[in-house]
Amino acid sequence: MLILGADDVRRVLDGAEQEVLAAVRQAYRLHAQGRTVLPHSVFLRFPDQPRDRIIGLPGYLGDDTPVAGIKWISSFPGNLEKGLERASAAVILNSTDTGMPEAVLEGSVISARRTAAGAAAAAAALVPATADTGVSLIGCGVINFEVLRFLLAALPELSSVTVFDLDGARAAAFAARCADRWPTLKVTVAGTADEALAAHPLVCLATTAAAPHLTTDACRPGTLLLHLSLRDLTPESVLSAVNVVDDPDHVCREATSLHLAEQAVGHREFITTTIGDLLSAEAPARRDEDRVTVVSPFGLGVLDLAVADLTRRRAQALGLGTRVPGFLPG
Ligand SMILES: NC(=O)c1ccc[n+]([C@@H]2O[C@H](COP(=O)([O-])OP(=O)(O)OC[C@H]3O[C@@H](n4cnc5c(N)ncnc54)[C@H](O)[C@@H]3O)[C@@H](O)[C@H]2O)c1
Repeated sequence: MLILGADDVRRVLDGAEQEVLAAVRQAYRLHAQGRTVLPHSVFLRFPDQPRDRIIGLPGYLGDDTPVAGIKWISSFPGNLEKGLERASAAVILNSTDTGMPEAVLEGSVISARRTAAGAAAAAAALVPATADTGVSLIGCGVINFEVLRFLLAALPELSSVTVFDLDGARAAAFAARCADRWPTLKVTVAGTADEALAAHPLVCLATTAAAPHLTTDACRPGTLLLHLSLRDLTPESVLSAVNVVDDPDHVCREATSLHLAEQAVGHREFITTTIGDLLSAEAPARRDEDRVTVVSPFGLGVLDLAVADLTRRRAQALGLGTRVPGFLPG
């Protein structure tokens, strides 16, 4: 058994943004070709703890070297008040020959980077009339920091970022961290969510809102909204947008804004296409210049497996991690 902790994972993934993007794009394409097995994520919730959950995302990725395993990821939003991160996770990779678990990896870094890489890949696959030079980030947490990292890797003309968070202190700290990490980036803190929505035609939502609190009314026509937190937008805003998802069966669940929209109209015809189909097309698609496009990825377990497998291979080449002989019986 190989154990890879957060420091090992960061060590192999830092600076490997293009490799992570490639692994995530390939996982999306394989999913579009039907070469994945992806049972629905299982949500474990607790009595009297409505905000907390642990989600299990099992999957199989039928690449030339197949990968199987599961991500087991907790979300405890109250952790922030304790000085801890909201999300924590482990990924188990299994042998597809024997079924045996082969590696356990710290999963929150992998999860955040696969999420961000997927968002950046979708943004790059939906080409605007004029190249994106700025992005608004609503929700100043772990995910949007990673989104910025991968957008900068995928969209070379990006030079400014506007951030907003309900918690002004978190927005200010996030802005300072961005300026420190990317000194040439112009960083602005917006006073309201609508101000952030209007600031740039590329927006990423990564909040912890549990129910819709935002419309797209303040967005410029042609805006691309990466809706990673899935429950921010009103069903009306979803229904008026061009909608791109990772998998309609997965995303129309668990009270996401798309699930609420489906319940409101009784069908899913408002979903236009999938990220996998966009990434499989020979030419990039054009963003609708008159409407808002909303990309809502539920978060496919095969993305975690693809990045975990990349991490394992790179870590093995560098001799990183801890081997635990005798973990399995016999
Ligand atoms: N779709 C996916 O694949 C995927 C994957 C990972 C995480 N996520 C989601 O991304 C979201 C963000 O994750 P994170 O790890 O960055 O969380 P985090 O707790 O680190 O940060 C979330 C931030 O959002 C802010 N916030 C909460 N409500 C807000 C609101 N209404 N308006 C503005 N800001 C608000 C909080 O103050 C906090 O700073 C979560 O909802 C998580 O479930 C989605």
